[in-house]
Amino acid sequence: MSGQTPNGLDRLRGTFGDETVTEAARRARVRSLFDGIAPRYDLMNDLMSFGLHRLWKRKTASALAWATDEIDGPWIDLAGGTGDLAALLRRRDPARRIVVADASEGMLAVARRRHRDMETMRVDAEALPFEDDSAAGVTLAFGLRNMTDPGRALRETARILRPGGMLALLEFSRVAAFFRPFYAAHSRLVIPLLGRLVAGDKASYDYLVQSIRIFPDADTVSAELRAAGLRVANVKTFMFGVAALHLAIKP
Ligand SMILES: C[S@@+](CC[C@H](N)C(=O)[O-])C[C@H]1O[C@@H](n2cnc3c(N)ncnc32)[C@H](O)[C@@H]1O
Repeated sequence: MSGQTPNGLDRLRGTFGDETVTEAARRARVRSLFDGIAPRYDLMNDLMSFGLHRLWKRKTASALAWATDEIDGPWIDLAGGTGDLAALLRRRDPARRIVVADASEGMLAVARRRHRDMETMRVDAEALPFEDDSAAGVTLAFGLRNMTDPGRALRETARILRPGGMLALLEFSRVAAFFRPFYAAHSRLVIPLLGRLVAGDKASYDYLVQSIRIFPDADTVSAELRAAGLRVANVKTFMFGVAALHLAIKP
């Protein structure tokens, strides 16, 4: 099964934040952005989210482990970046093969330094180097909105999952109306300031804010997961909709 919903993920393909770019430019700029911010990435995440991303990732890891415990095959942390979610998965099942798969060599280098013996793989999520029906589970945290072709990346993920296997997709979402003014102030003032002072790179964090703003809501993401051939088993939102965790099973 495949398909794309209009106004869904497909329209991100020609964007880099607020800019309109070619797909090739999107791929190159996203990769070089993450190569550049990799050394400060985890610290910035902690500061921007007040440490909450760690809690959300713990919930993502435990949902995946709980649902796919009995299924053979690797757990793949796609767009795994510096490997913190993969490290949580490893704690859940030290004997299982766990792979941090990411497009940015800079992020993977940090993952290897932080988490000894962690298997890393440089991949494009749109063409994954795994067999059909081979993975027990895939986690994808805050990566989908950065992908060159997010819809294609979901279809690739569906292809490599075993029947019964799960994608745990954690991504920014749409906040509830009452919380919007606080969130807007945080995005407009706090994140660019941290980007400038801590990461020394305001432009990259401007992209981050813009990419969150143009990312679709949780219902659209559910429709995209279904279009990729997955069954959406559960959707949980965090912090009044700041982030959403979709749990999607391959039938
Ligand atoms: C915001 S970071 C998220 C990292 C980590 N999952 C986390 O939650 O902290 C987004 C990651 O997506 C990766 N990425 C972007 N496009 C990709 C693609 N087409 N294929 C694989 N990884 C990609 C980037 O290199 C980056 O490491």
